[in-house]
Amino acid sequence: FSAFLTDSFGRRHSYLRISLTERCNLRCQYCMPEEGVPLTPKADLLTTEEILTLARLFVKEGVDKIRLTGGEPLIRPDVVDIVAQLRQLEGLRTIGITTNGINLARLLPQLQKAGLSAINISLDTLVPAKFEFIVRRKGFHKVMEGIHKAIELGYSPVKVNCVVMRGLNEDELLDFVALTEGLPLDVRFIEYMPFDGNRWNFKKMVSYKEMLDTLRQQWPELEKLPEEESSTAKAFKIPGFRGQVSFITSMSEHFCGTCNRLRITADGNLKVCLFGNSEVSLRDHLRGGASEEELLRVIGAAVGRKKRQHAGMFSISQMKNRPMILIELFLMRQ
Ligand code: GTP
Ligand code: 5AD
Ligand code: SF4
Repeated sequence: FSAFLTDSFGRRHSYLRISLTERCNLRCQYCMPEEGVPLTPKADLLTTEEILTLARLFVKEGVDKIRLTGGEPLIRPDVVDIVAQLRQLEGLRTIGITTNGINLARLLPQLQKAGLSAINISLDTLVPAKFEFIVRRKGFHKVMEGIHKAIELGYSPVKVNCVVMRGLNEDELLDFVALTEGLPLDVRFIEYMPFDGNRWNFKKMVSYKEMLDTLRQQWPELEKLPEEESSTAKAFKIPGFRGQVSFITSMSEHFCGTCNRLRITADGNLKVCLFGNSEVSLRDHLRGGASEEELLRVIGAAVGRKKRQHAGMFSISQMKNRPMILIELFLMRQ
């Protein structure tokens, strides 16, 4: 495995998340402020050619999984073409996408043909009116249609990302779990994380322990599944149910020790940690005519500076980062 992608703690970074756009057709409260975020001028965003050049380089060095994120990746007009071209890369095993699901039902047949292997869909409520409140737009039924289309086309499990916020949707945990009885879903309850502009506060966060207690009261037979290597999620299952439920515990029990992820933002910065604010512009090096060797040195130096773990819940809530929409699905620079 490439020394350039191995950090000083021996973590091998074989999973690359590429943001295809900063734009989004929703305005989720936990992701960005209502007015949206200042967007990077188009000329400063990575072109498709640049994305593929970087992907090729990372795959050559040992990346075997790429996830396309955003903003909302499905609003990039050439997303199907990007998937098809990534599929040509030898050594790349998994191409995933994390989407809000609005355009999914329409695009999935083409994406599947192009070689898309895994789908994660954000859905934070099962109540249509609440959906509109959380995402500040319409579209609940489109997302549900997207989820069902993914199941119909054989994706299994289809992962559903549910950010749990006190006072907003923590009363829906059991309803989400009930969905897994008949559908091959992995419903993932995510601890609410702080990003610039999302007005995070400790009281709004519902911890893994608390969620697990709620589930166990209703389903004492809830069974823990073996941990998957480098996964963000701790998985559980109710015996006899088709799907499963998981928890993403970034706040209360971080999983930095086995982190294998790197990210490239839509404007071409390499970000070695979701919660770190140190970034290096691969775009500028590419446009400056850097050779492969030089790019790898830049990447290797950034990976080499990666910290052992994030700075802790309160520090990260106070540090300057991007909003989530501009990190990947979600982030903005202030
Ligand atoms: P899989 O590839 O299917 O395992 O998905 P994933 O969990 O890696 O990615 P997804 O885009 O579905 O993100 C789900 C949640 O995990 C989101 O809240 C992400 O912000 C969070 N997440 C993803 N990558 C990281 C990471 O490197 N560190 C932390 N702390 N959280 C992450
Ligand atoms: N806290 C936790 N998860 C978040 N996501 C976006 N913003 C936050 C946040 N503040 C999740 C979305 C999406 C995934 C990529 O990140 O649910 O599915
Ligand atoms: Fe919501 Fe994702 Fe769009 Fe952010 S990028 S507003 S979380 S759908």
